[in-house]
Amino acid sequence: MITPVKFNRYAPQVLDQLGKSGAFLTVRKGEAVNTMTIGWGSVGRVWSLPVFTILVRHNRYTYQIIKDGGTFGVSLPLDASLDKELEYCGSKSGRDVNKERECPLRLLPAQVIDSPVVGGCRLYYECEIIYSQSMALEALKQDIREQRYAKEPPHTLFYGKIVACYLGTGEVESRE
Ligand SMILES: Cc1cc2nc3c(=O)[nH]c(=O)nc-3n(C[C@H](O)[C@H](O)[C@H](O)COP(=O)(O)O)c2cc1C
Repeated sequence: MITPVKFNRYAPQVLDQLGKSGAFLTVRKGEAVNTMTIGWGSVGRVWSLPVFTILVRHNRYTYQIIKDGGTFGVSLPLDASLDKELEYCGSKSGRDVNKERECPLRLLPAQVIDSPVVGGCRLYYECEIIYSQSMALEALKQDIREQRYAKEPPHTLFYGKIVACYLGTGEVESRE
């Protein structure tokens, strides 16, 4: 059953989950669908809109899809029940494996957007990309640049307007 909730209702739980085992980011362009794990991101207001911000590194297969796609889904378990799946989606690439089949993941159609979401999660965000910007590394504080980007390519920041936010099965409070 799906219960709509205000986008910021569970913001502390979202930030906790991102900082622990992460969240599922699912994207789609035509036939291509892929899910990867994200740990960097936030829920907030930008341009007076509810926005989920994510960072996707340019060497991810997900990047190949999202850069031309218009939407993304974020699925959050809010507990440890899908930690194994989050680990899998955060270590394997959709270039090499079909994660939906091999992990496996139960992908479900979203309510509003094209990209699906991952079944079995407690909280969902459906987002429409309203702004994206490849990082200007020269603008980043030097110590972070050296630590995070000396050996790996930059991220693109995607700002997704939250067009739907809802609970999956069960209540979040009962799991705290
Ligand atoms: C807990 C966790 C958090 C992660 N957070 C991010 C992130 O915010 N951005 C990113 O680009 N990669 C992140 N990654 C790495 C990607 O999930 C990983 O490289 C993945 O295999 C990419 O899959 P893909 O090639 O199918 O897109 C994270 C990995 C883990 C395990």
